[in-house]
Amino acid sequence: MKGDKKMFIVDSPSGSKMVVNGKEIINYSGCSYLGISDEESIIDAGVKALKQYGSLCQTPRHYGFNIPPYLEVVKSACDFFEVESATYFSTGYLFGNIVLQALKEEYDVIFLDEKAHYSITDGAYACEKPIFRFKHTDSYDLEKVLENNLEKDQIPIIATDGMFPTYGNIPPLNKYYEIISKYNGWIVVDESHSFGTVGNTGKGAIEKFNLPRDRVIGGGSMAKAFCAYGGLVLGSKKVIDLVTSSAPFWGTSSGMSASAAMTAESLKYVKNHPELLIKLRENIHYLKKGLNDLGINVEMTETPVATFVIGDSIKMKSIQKELFNKGVCITYSNYIGAGKDGVLKFSIFASHTKESNDKLLSLLKEYV
Ligand SMILES: Cc1ncc(COP(=O)(O)O)c(C=O)c1O
Repeated sequence: MKGDKKMFIVDSPSGSKMVVNGKEIINYSGCSYLGISDEESIIDAGVKALKQYGSLCQTPRHYGFNIPPYLEVVKSACDFFEVESATYFSTGYLFGNIVLQALKEEYDVIFLDEKAHYSITDGAYACEKPIFRFKHTDSYDLEKVLENNLEKDQIPIIATDGMFPTYGNIPPLNKYYEIISKYNGWIVVDESHSFGTVGNTGKGAIEKFNLPRDRVIGGGSMAKAFCAYGGLVLGSKKVIDLVTSSAPFWGTSSGMSASAAMTAESLKYVKNHPELLIKLRENIHYLKKGLNDLGINVEMTETPVATFVIGDSIKMKSIQKELFNKGVCITYSNYIGAGKDGVLKFSIFASHTKESNDKLLSLLKEYV
């Protein structure tokens, strides 16, 4: 809704049903992909932590203070993602900044996908290192840009999203890995949208391509599929030691106790409920197939985002408004990669029902 002052006011958990502007609607916007934003055990964990630790936790980890929810979230993250080490911080947006600065002495030049999220892009520009951008998800262009710009003995780092938010596309990390292996380089992957949704067990794009994590560092927001809050970095002990002594990590608070406690609980909950990912994938297949059957072409990928263009921005905004008036909320988006006229997009959740999916498809039928 860039530049648009009219806001939707949400008065309920952000899930597949939502109260918006006082009215209950079926919701296909946002990112609560696993559909657990109203899960009681996660909410209770947050409430309990707030009551126990109060509204403020000004106990910086770099001065040697910690509270159990921060320890618990790291343990849950290592357990869920099966990684050697991890750390937690207040917001996923800091991921790029924290990791790229933490590894600063380990690389010389940054190669950045031209449509990478602000988290990665802003983090890269804060590093005062040479930056070269490559065409979106294009490993051939990456190789060319890298060969043309990397000097002898320099070490590259590639920075990308694991799943791009607007079209839900996934970069060819396996090809990027082949490229960096020739230079002893690194890859940093913002998994904010791929955490919980991509890979066999929802560990993200790094899992999908089965890459070792020693030089491929994943992390990002827990405020998407996991329906919690804050950010994670996953990696080897060596990398996490660098991260936890970096300036951006020290320069911000560790986040609310409640956020850490909810994230820890959510990681455990998702691990114990593999049926969520199965249900999500059923919904993704059903809706993407349904769209293609209507003649609205979307790729049959595993990601929980279906994005398409119908007419120009005026037409798409009016479709969104009409659907909203009929009780279904989808997004008109002009976010990163959406192009001049923007796109219509819906986000698919594990909690969507066949009835709501059918309603969405039948409403869209009128516009094709
Ligand atoms: C790819 C990506 N990275 C990072 C963030 C920021 O996450 P958070 O809201 O936890 O700060 C977002 C949020 O929109 C995102 O889409």
